[in-house]
Amino acid sequence: MSDTTQKPTITIRKDGPLLVTGDVTLTDHEGNVLEPPKLPFALCRCGASDRKPYCDGTHKNIGFCGTAAEVGAE
Ligand code: FES
Repeated sequence: MSDTTQKPTITIRKDGPLLVTGDVTLTDHEGNVLEPPKLPFALCRCGASDRKPYCDGTHKNIGFCGTAAEVGAE
């Protein structure tokens, strides 16, 4: 491991995506490595993105509420 390696961190954004920073490998369900469009990158948490698994900002348009109580209330 080099000195420039950053610890992977996933940050849950309020009513938004999962922000991924640091050295991390993203794979699909078959183990194929996906190259994120940019670093850091955001993974969709609302399910409405047209660019899954990445966030495209749609969560703002649909009024996504990411609190655990409201997500499970449907
Ligand atoms: S979290 Fe941003 S589009 Fe789903």
